[in-house]
Amino acid sequence: MTTVGILGGTGPAGRGVAARLASASYAVVLGSRDEQRAKDTAATISPRGDGTVDGGTNEDAAACSVVIVATPWDSAIATTSALRQLLKGKTVITMVNALTREGREMVPLYPARGSMAAQIAFALPESRVVGAFHHLPAAQMEDLDSGLNADVLIFSDDDDARRQVAVMVDAMLGLRAVVAGSMSLASPIEAFTAVCISVNIRHKAHSSVKMAGL
Ligand SMILES: NC(=O)c1ccc[n+]([C@@H]2O[C@H](COP(=O)([O-])OP(=O)(O)OC[C@H]3O[C@@H](n4cnc5c(N)ncnc54)[C@H](OP(=O)(O)O)[C@@H]3O)[C@@H](O)[C@H]2O)c1
Repeated sequence: MTTVGILGGTGPAGRGVAARLASASYAVVLGSRDEQRAKDTAATISPRGDGTVDGGTNEDAAACSVVIVATPWDSAIATTSALRQLLKGKTVITMVNALTREGREMVPLYPARGSMAAQIAFALPESRVVGAFHHLPAAQMEDLDSGLNADVLIFSDDDDARRQVAVMVDAMLGLRAVVAGSMSLASPIEAFTAVCISVNIRHKAHSSVKMAGL
């Protein structure tokens, strides 16, 4: 069984991805700065099928074969840099968006190097960094009965890692993998999350991204 670790996995984003990955037969480790919090959080997730969700430290999560970064944007670089050796040679998926709230809207921030994905790739030069899961509403992800039917835009400069993540995504209930392209698309894909959340705030909705015509 492929193991997937989630750095900052105790938040809504990590929990949502964990629920659907475990339901697709992956063995998921929620990572945390507080091991007990991760164990307690993992116990609240009830996947379907034969996958599992366990809790541990962020180091435990980084020891998995594929690792997802699900911390807030302003702690993603410190968190991943500290785990650089453990993440060497691995596929590291970032779902991190740099956003800030202004009234009823979310607005994108533009980190150094143009995107969080590019910053993480710079911090992890020996890892294969892929972007995915940016636009997914976490609560609908965690609720396996929410009827979620969404596309996941995937980008990376590493073709093999991109394909590997597409296989994972296609195995997850309610999700379709859409390979968008290279790391040069990271900035617009991350920034578009601000549009998704703002639409949902304005329209009191739980909409998600679906590419028509594909
Ligand atoms: N929420 C969504 O719907 C959604 C959807 C797609 C993408 N995203 C992205 O996914 C990421 C996580 O989102 P979220 O809503 O789950 O965020 P969150 O709840 O604010 O944070 C997730 C986890 O990160 C850890 N964390 C918090 N501050 C930290 C720090 N200073 N250093 C290290 N770890 C820290 C915490 O875990 P511990 O305290 O247990 O260590 C926390 O539970 C964000 O970058 C967001 O843009 C979110």
